[in-house]
Amino acid sequence: MAFVTHYVRRGFSSSAVRSVVIKNVTIIGGGLMGAGIAQVAASTGHSVTLVDTSDDILKKSVKGIEGSVKRVVKKKFADKPEAGEELIQKVLQNVSTSTDAGLAVRGSDLVVEAIVENLKIKQDLFATLDKLAPAHTIFASNTSSLSVSDIASSTSRLDRFGGLHFFNPVPMMKLVEVIGTSATSQETFDSLMSFSKVLGKTPVSCKVRFTIIIVAVSCHASKEDIDIAMKLGAGYPMGPFELSDYVGLDTIKFIMDGWSAMDPDNPLFAQSELLNKRRILQVQVIMCCKFSVERCHCETDLMLRK
Ligand SMILES: NC(=O)c1ccc[n+]([C@@H]2O[C@H](COP(=O)([O-])OP(=O)(O)OC[C@H]3O[C@@H](n4cnc5c(N)ncnc54)[C@H](O)[C@@H]3O)[C@@H](O)[C@H]2O)c1
Repeated sequence: MAFVTHYVRRGFSSSAVRSVVIKNVTIIGGGLMGAGIAQVAASTGHSVTLVDTSDDILKKSVKGIEGSVKRVVKKKFADKPEAGEELIQKVLQNVSTSTDAGLAVRGSDLVVEAIVENLKIKQDLFATLDKLAPAHTIFASNTSSLSVSDIASSTSRLDRFGGLHFFNPVPMMKLVEVIGTSATSQETFDSLMSFSKVLGKTPVSCKVRFTIIIVAVSCHASKEDIDIAMKLGAGYPMGPFELSDYVGLDTIKFIMDGWSAMDPDNPLFAQSELLNKRRILQVQVIMCCKFSVERCHCETDLMLRK
């Protein structure tokens, strides 16, 4: 099952729809994350080339993928051993390996980088690949903490560059944070979102230059996406905004008042002027309306961002 995105390209008339087919995926780095991403991409019918610095590492990566798929099959196909065996064969057939990243990206629709967390090394890698990959190829980094803009700056395809932040272990974790920089085109961003869905993941959008939701909740993500990220990425039973609504803003205010009295210089416990301006009764009325109006959510949002 190849991943197909239909979209309207900028500059074309609205009726001119172009399709981007992400069928061939190159994953650079066959470690913990790269092998996991390779496994889910191969399981969903993509042709995957996994790249690392030596054949020995790649052998271990493939062995790891095989073991991981076998565990999935044991759990999911206990009653259907033939279907399970079919999946194992399909995944292994869909994964090839290479120690030559330049060669691997030549037929690639998407390159996902999951190498060592070092800006210079990632920039050097992408600068090289930029000269060798086809023009349509989208580049994505799985970086946890680096600026995707900074990584992309070594290439000439800023519009076709974004972040795909998977979580560990990749086959188990549903969340993918899709990161767009200020230069990432809408088409690229949408393609990365769609690709993540085809992998069976739940993507959340994070259109910022420097941060990733789960690492820094202060990014420009919607409150709904922050809630999803904290649930699927950090294993919280509820997201912070959902929880605030559930606990009640009045109770949260009392808790914060207490902490603030105990530790007045700690900015984490600073008073919320917004809540302080209102009488508790009003806060409770807003809470009661939370499912019919957005207002209560906005109050919570402002309070937590203060
Ligand atoms: N480990 C996690 O929980 C986690 C979660 C999300 C994101 N990440 C990010 O994913 C990336 C990879 O993390 P990991 O835990 O898989 O690391 P890892 O050390 O397990 O794997 C990295 C792999 O990249 C290979 N490599 C290094 N330089 C290379 C190069 N120039 N070309 C080809 N291969 C190269 C290494 O040999 C190694 O096999 C990092 O950016 C990390 O921040 C990690």
